[in-house]
Amino acid sequence: MMYSCALWSEAEGGVNGDLLSGPTDGDLEAAQHRKIHHVLKKARLRLGDRLLEFGSGWGGLAIEAARTYGCEVDSLTLSVEQKALAEERIKAAGLEGRVRVHLMDYRDIPPEFQHAFDAFISIEMLEHVGSQHYKEYFKLVDYALKSKNATAVVSASTFPECRYTGYQMVDRRTGKCIKCLTPQSLTPPDTAEAWLV
Ligand SMILES: C[S@@+](CC[C@H](N)C(=O)[O-])C[C@H]1O[C@@H](n2cnc3c(N)ncnc32)[C@H](O)[C@@H]1O
Repeated sequence: MMYSCALWSEAEGGVNGDLLSGPTDGDLEAAQHRKIHHVLKKARLRLGDRLLEFGSGWGGLAIEAARTYGCEVDSLTLSVEQKALAEERIKAAGLEGRVRVHLMDYRDIPPEFQHAFDAFISIEMLEHVGSQHYKEYFKLVDYALKSKNATAVVSASTFPECRYTGYQMVDRRTGKCIKCLTPQSLTPPDTAEAWLV
């Protein structure tokens, strides 16, 4: 399970299914499972690939990448509790040695990560980065990925451009704190792709 948004389908009554027809047993699990596999598929993982993940959560994606795609996974979190629970789940799944959870800031990735990974995935972690650090973030992704045939999948909550400024903690133009939506967070506009390049 993830704690970021699931991918709902008609099987669960769509995104409003639990509101309109009430939650049904297993619907969240099914939608979360769909989300994880959607992302893993997008990353075009192959057997034995090394996957780097920023933002482990409770380890759901890392475990599934190792279990279903036979990947070797390094996953980063800042949370002691997440690392502990993820490691418990990795052990229960018999995947110790294939999935490593590091209590590590993404800016501290070690030299042995340089060009070591076939794929990079980060789900709903970019919100914690801040637009002023995006360049450094993607430089580090580039540093960690192999120079050929590597893939990166980054998912984040976004806001429509017209509502973007009002919802941010920090005004991009002035750098001043506006208000606190999530501490230390910045949610990219849905046109983010345009100003990341
Ligand atoms: C909103 S959670 C998403 C977790 C998971 N990907 C999911 O979808 O359930 C954000 C994750 O990013 C991690 N994170 C936030 N800032 C980080 C940083 N500077 N370096 C490494 N991980 C970070 C948090 O510890 C947490 O695991």
